[in-house]
Amino acid sequence: MEFIKNFKSELIVESPGRINLIGEHTDYNMGFVLPTAIEKKIVFQFAKNESPNKCQVYSTTFNTGFELDLNTLEKSSVEWENYILGVLNEISKRTNKLSGFNCTIESNLPTGSGLSSSAALECGLAFGLNDLFDLGLSKMEMVKLSQIAEHTYAGTQCGIMDQFASVMSQKGHMLLLDCRTLEYKPIPINLEPYKIILLNTKVSHNLATSEYNTRKNECEEGVAILKQDYPEVNYLRDASMAMLEGVKERISETVYNRCSFIIAENKRVHQMAAALTANDLETVGQILYKAHEGISKFYEVSCAESDFLVEFSKSNIHVLGARQTGGGFGGCTLNIVHKNAVDDFVNAATQAYREKFNIELDAFEVKPSTGTFSYSN
Ligand code: GLA
Repeated sequence: MEFIKNFKSELIVESPGRINLIGEHTDYNMGFVLPTAIEKKIVFQFAKNESPNKCQVYSTTFNTGFELDLNTLEKSSVEWENYILGVLNEISKRTNKLSGFNCTIESNLPTGSGLSSSAALECGLAFGLNDLFDLGLSKMEMVKLSQIAEHTYAGTQCGIMDQFASVMSQKGHMLLLDCRTLEYKPIPINLEPYKIILLNTKVSHNLATSEYNTRKNECEEGVAILKQDYPEVNYLRDASMAMLEGVKERISETVYNRCSFIIAENKRVHQMAAALTANDLETVGQILYKAHEGISKFYEVSCAESDFLVEFSKSNIHVLGARQTGGGFGGCTLNIVHKNAVDDFVNAATQAYREKFNIELDAFEVKPSTGTFSYSN
């Protein structure tokens, strides 16, 4: 198949990755999260082609692409193609306005690093097609259909945080999102003289999808028991530690640990929002360390590499706090580091990590940034 890579693009879409400051795995428990988009992103170029149904999608970053037929959409055995196909499938259910298009994708967002390159891909595509074919979808509709695409085509029963953050974020703010009502409040963030430094472990253990879905099931198991005594508990969001203690004898240790983590993590989101508002950076850092302990010991979605880097950061007095960010099993740790100490910290961490795991770290600063946007070429 001959790819048309140099077509005259009509539309450009910039679709960012995200970090999550706090509130991990709380989204599918209908709780709270505090993410924001970052400057690393996927850039799409779009143009309609002459065909009523044939489309080409090409990644210039990975030098690979595929052709698809809007009339015969089905799952692919190639992972990234499913994010595209899943979104097209959802859009096709809602409108018959789509026709053939060409699209190229360029990315500086590392994949499998807990920064939601999948949501950036889904939402960027939805955004572009919405503009190109005048589909009239609202931002929230695009967020929701992208999440469903991930469930149906990619097979991860994810919550709504990543898609929401990728599309709705505002520069200089974290989004305090209630994942049940979808109400949100932008919280200004000013960490001066500290910076947010990500250390990419460069590992993404392939447990991620299956273990993710298992965690969701374990939370639901906890809710089913809690509900016997507390009918008002529909999600862990509705539960308290006192309630959980009340049913402790009837649940396994594993389910108890999962539930206690989620209940505590939900609280941490509000504590974090308050600490940011009060500019209490020491507390910001302490909440991160506490959260990582929960991620590692009770929710068990960390790994040796992330644990090592978080532990390492504790030996540096210029780091206020750190934790693994995102779904887990590797990806990036998020570190709050004094601006004068960034180079020393990164160098020391790189060396220690190399000695321990024989892997070269990737380190970069991130800044809370704006969500998906498009412009005509
Ligand atoms: C992944 C999912 C999100 C969220 C995080 C964990 O990124 O896509 O919905 O559950 O993991 O917080």
